[in-house]
Amino acid sequence: MSVPVTPFPTRDLPPVAQQPRLTVIGTGYLGATHAVSMAVLGYEVLGVDVDPAKVDALVAGRVPFHEPGLPEKLAEALASGRLRFSSSMQEAAEFGDVHFVCVGTPQQRGSNAADLTYVDGAFRELASHITRRALVVGKSTVPVGTAARLAALVREVAPAGADVEVAWNPEFLREGYAVQDTLHPDRLVFGVESPWAEAQLRAAFRPVLDEGTPLVVADLPTSELVKVAANSFLATKISFINAMAEICEATGADVSLLASALSHDTRIGGRFLKPGLGFGGGCLPKDIRAFSARADELGVGQAVRFLDEVDAINLRRRQRTVDLVAELVDGDLAGKKVAALGAAFKPNSDDIRDAPALDVARMLRDAGAIVTVYDPEAMANAARVRPELRYAPSLTAAVVDADVVVLLTEWQQFRDADPEDLGALVHTRRIVDGRHALDADRYRAAGWEYRALGRPVAPRTVEISVDEQDELQRSA
Ligand SMILES: NC(=O)c1ccc[n+]([C@@H]2O[C@H](COP(=O)([O-])OP(=O)(O)OC[C@H]3O[C@@H](n4cnc5c(N)ncnc54)[C@H](O)[C@@H]3O)[C@@H](O)[C@H]2O)c1
Repeated sequence: MSVPVTPFPTRDLPPVAQQPRLTVIGTGYLGATHAVSMAVLGYEVLGVDVDPAKVDALVAGRVPFHEPGLPEKLAEALASGRLRFSSSMQEAAEFGDVHFVCVGTPQQRGSNAADLTYVDGAFRELASHITRRALVVGKSTVPVGTAARLAALVREVAPAGADVEVAWNPEFLREGYAVQDTLHPDRLVFGVESPWAEAQLRAAFRPVLDEGTPLVVADLPTSELVKVAANSFLATKISFINAMAEICEATGADVSLLASALSHDTRIGGRFLKPGLGFGGGCLPKDIRAFSARADELGVGQAVRFLDEVDAINLRRRQRTVDLVAELVDGDLAGKKVAALGAAFKPNSDDIRDAPALDVARMLRDAGAIVTVYDPEAMANAARVRPELRYAPSLTAAVVDADVVVLLTEWQQFRDADPEDLGALVHTRRIVDGRHALDADRYRAAGWEYRALGRPVAPRTVEISVDEQDELQRSA
């Protein structure tokens, strides 16, 4: 599709390892998936993490988080003998020709900026052991300017000095689709400072490039910006339709019909135009905040000031969901039993980082409701972070005797539930559909009072096409 741009002459390069040995530093959601996938593609891979429990689990063939398809690929990679795990950075430095750094970049406490402690620490420690030519590739999402700073740091601390180069290869995988996105990405982006780094990265992604994956070769700052720009765009689209939901609530209009009508405009499209409780997770919220903070540092904060509003619209959806539940019980949540369906930030994941679902459950409890949470995969993570909430072992157990049911994460199991069967279990047939994922007509026909954000009290059911349904589950 796109034409690969090679900004450097390719003659007289230092030797390029044609089948490079790879390391993956940080084996969380991103790193474990990358390590496994690269081994499946035929590379020898060493994964390194500072968390011994994570290393032990992966060595034993257990993926320490929920990601469809990854356990099978891990088994395949381990059986091939090409994938190992360790906690030794020195071993990594000795083994690897290309090192992928995949450690976390969470939001700083008390600030919107990214916490670069882990990235800085990983680059510094790895580089301090590298005694030969190697490429250190950042995959973590970082504020623009970080890669250039790390390149200088690496040259300074590595025994091999300027023979160790830094490149950036931002990652766009979506949890729930991580294996597919890693093996067959929409595009690859290489941020490089030399023709050697580009050639070495091409060798490290040969099978992916051979299947025609578009490649953009860029400078370091552009490659860092691609990731935050993409996430800012997606977050803006979600908050745009949720802003329309606020207008709909004030006017009696129906945001689902509005979104459906907009989605037929091919210039707009329906993807990421789903109204509801909004985005969360370990990427979108912290990435747009960090982008805004970094733009302020650079003196161009005004350019992305709208991202603060995108964030605010998104967070307002949580309180509005609580308000809708309260409206169904005449404004008084005290002592009311609420069944909260979902805790993960989206379906097909057990990730509860900045999860709107868990936040709403917490807010309902703070308002006096007796909240019982059920999520097909995220129960252990949720209970660790929010031990004060009640947890039920199944969907049916969660809804028993409920005064209100609130759908917070659109797992297929919740979409497939029969309104008659659920109705037989609850105390009162009232439901808030926080994700616009249920068939309003079916619920009303079964005697439920059905409410959804941005929709009138008695909305029509909006036909959701298969593509749109798919998209509901892919968000960020
Ligand atoms: N999760 C996603 O879907 C996704 C997608 C694209 C980009 N990203 C970006 O990738 C990065 C990692 O995200 P994640 O979700 O995998 O985080 P994560 O918290 O699941 O994993 C990070 C891992 O790094 C390890 N670690 C920390 N310091 C280390 C060190 N010095 N040496 C070795 N290991 C170390 C941690 O123990 C942890 O296992 C972030 O910058 C994130 O924004 C994530």
